[in-house]
Amino acid sequence: MINANGKTEPKTAPPVIEMRGITRSFVKDRQNISVLQDINLTVGHKEIICLVGESGCGKTTTGKIISGLLDPSGGELLIDGRRLDSYTPKERKLIRREMQIVHQDPFASLNPAHTIGDILSFPLQRHHMVKDGAALRRRIWELLTMVDLTPPGDIVGKYPHQLSGGQRQRVSIARALTVQPRLIVADEAVSMVDVSIRISLLKTLHGLRDRLGLSIVFITHDLALAKYFAWEGRIAVMYLGRIVEIGRTPDVIANPAHPYTRALLAAVPEADPDLTRHKHALRLRSDDIPSLTAIPPGCAFHPRCPFYVQGVCDVDVPVLQPTAAHPQAVACIPLQQGKLQAWQPTE
Ligand SMILES: Nc1ncnc2c1ncn2[C@@H]1O[C@H](COP(=O)(O)OP(=O)(O)OP(=O)(O)O)[C@@H](O)[C@H]1O
Ligand code: SF4
Ligand SMILES: [Mg+2]
Repeated sequence: MINANGKTEPKTAPPVIEMRGITRSFVKDRQNISVLQDINLTVGHKEIICLVGESGCGKTTTGKIISGLLDPSGGELLIDGRRLDSYTPKERKLIRREMQIVHQDPFASLNPAHTIGDILSFPLQRHHMVKDGAALRRRIWELLTMVDLTPPGDIVGKYPHQLSGGQRQRVSIARALTVQPRLIVADEAVSMVDVSIRISLLKTLHGLRDRLGLSIVFITHDLALAKYFAWEGRIAVMYLGRIVEIGRTPDVIANPAHPYTRALLAAVPEADPDLTRHKHALRLRSDDIPSLTAIPPGCAFHPRCPFYVQGVCDVDVPVLQPTAAHPQAVACIPLQQGKLQAWQPTE
């Protein structure tokens, strides 16, 4: 691109994936449940984005849409800057393969009747990722080494039940890597393993991102994990199907803007001064999470929010946008109007 001074400016690559106004609903008991509303999110090359929020806020649904397991009900999905529906069906198939998901429970997702070698062979062969038997063996060895399952010879003939939880999760990651993805959604991928193994799994994921140039969407309800894993990336905080705050992890952790983010940080049990700084600063009006079948009008957080402004917060839906006081984007009307700088609860 040529700028006004006639100089060539470096082209910035478009995000790997961009969600624009994405919605998703399900029909349950003949009722339409709106699970995601107006999700706007980009994931750049090699970027780590962490989705956090309470159970049921829509993290997994978002991850499934990113990885192609679910279609959105509305909105636009862009891959490499182009609408997904502008690609040919063949291109779409290849693109979808480049976005893989690793689930929470490796035991449920690995076939107990197959050896680890078989589990890795199937996608490699199905997608013609290897030429012959020798290349297949080499690739399986390489994948197991990449996820720190060494020596591979000790692992390849075993069945999932013969491995520990952490090892099984490494196999799940290796299986996701068989198709050479560009993006991995790790959905609570370390929450079922022991704390001691968690850090080592996160280090493996970090290493893969550096080595393979992977983008990672890391889903967790644990802010301490989010802080650790996504320190160089961004955090998106979700509440009842919407992103209510998004920004660089150090900004969100050090200076949370949205009252809900502050409440989440206040609830962290860990003795981490960064995370518990706001512990005594916030008391919610209610601990009950509203049902998705009866989402409160206006700001969905208003029945719980200690800063709720009657006639504003229960009427207008806040839009996620930057505020003067914070570098991150926040969906909170009084904050955007500069009325909440002092953070004094209304009652
Ligand atoms: N296939 C489906 N049919 C009906 N409702 C669904 C379906 N999938 C998800 N939901 C509902 O959508 C809401 C959001 O679910 P989702 O799994 O995305 O939340 P989450 O943030 O990942 O929660 P958790 O932290 O418990 O994993 C939940 O109320 C869930 O019951
Ligand atoms: S918009 Fe109102 S109710 Fe919602 S978070 Fe901001 S102050 Fe609280
Ligand atoms: Mg989930």
